Amino acid sequence: MSVTQPTPLPHAGRYAGCSAIVTGAGSGVGAALSRALVGAGAHVVLADLDEQAATRVAGTLTAGPGTARAARLDVTDAAAVATLVHEVAAEHGRLDLLFNNAGITFGGETEDLSLEQWNAIIDVNLRGVVHGVHAAYPLMVRQGSAGGRGGHIVNTASMGGLMAAGLITSYVATKHAVVGLSLALRSEAAAKGVGVTAICPSAVETPLLEKGELGRFHGRDYYLKGQGVRRALDPDLLADRALAAVAADRPLLVTPLQARLAWRLGRLSPALVARSSVGFVARQRRLQAARAARSDS
Ligand SMILES: NC(=O)c1ccc[n+]([C@@H]2O[C@H](COP(=O)([O-])OP(=O)(O)OC[C@H]3O[C@@H](n4cnc5c(N)ncnc54)[C@H](O)[C@@H]3O)[C@@H](O)[C@H]2O)c1
Repeated sequence: MSVTQPTPLPHAGRYAGCSAIVTGAGSGVGAALSRALVGAGAHVVLADLDEQAATRVAGTLTAGPGTARAARLDVTDAAAVATLVHEVAAEHGRLDLLFNNAGITFGGETEDLSLEQWNAIIDVNLRGVVHGVHAAYPLMVRQGSAGGRGGHIVNTASMGGLMAAGLITSYVATKHAVVGLSLALRSEAAAKGVGVTAICPSAVETPLLEKGELGRFHGRDYYLKGQGVRRALDPDLLADRALAAVAADRPLLVTPLQARLAWRLGRLSPALVARSSVGFVARQRRLQAARAARSDS
């Protein structure tokens, strides 16, 4: 097994000795967040439905300076989330950081989405975050009332949480909810010493780009080619930016620059974005149809 030597970050002092839980840590963004946190000296529990994957990632993080251990966790199970939160708080005397990161996606025409799939995406992407907040936020408020920093909740949303993109409608619905939850909670939590940050990247190079494809939907065509993006964001770069955003107590991390510009433009002219989103879906459908025709021939 290869041992990754994490690169120390400029804001590493913020995280040294902190206790943290990262959900969905067996892959992609969660694995990268865990690497960055351990590299910055935090004690991290890598929680994932896929325990083997979390164990594999934790096994690459033995070089420290922080520590890593894996735990099986289904974020749709509120009791299991609460048990892990309280277990980690008891182990370290407090819980400093909770990264509600686990997520799933479905791409394709909304009429092809079953009610089970609607419920599944709401359960993981929204209820999973709610379960984390419900378990950790009161604990962090208590930690804050004892003086000093209460803690920080970091929710992985998406650009899909800030802008509406058709053909991933169920995903967009859950991520808008996560952004709303994060910003509203942040306004309550500030006076109680608890920080809240939502991470909103566009396409990140992880296995998610190829998951949940319904019908002729092809994730890479949709997230990259169809949006004029040459390369998806490196998850380790995203994790470094996320830790910097949390260290600076920023409400939102919108990255990379292209995503930030699109978001700003959308805020300046919502009517223009609403009109162009119809053309966006039409272009995406043509792209998907062309791919299907190529693979049929
Ligand atoms: N990859 C992207 O382009 C992208 C862009 C924006 C936001 N995001 C968000 O980043 C987060 C992480 O996604 P990723 O790209 O790393 O995907 P990924 O598929 O690589 O990893 C997701 C991880 O979550 C775990 N998971 C799924 N359901 C779970 C559950 N019920 N309980 C616990 N763990 C569960 C999976 O086992 C997997 O290890 C998600 O919230 C996703 O929506 C991803």
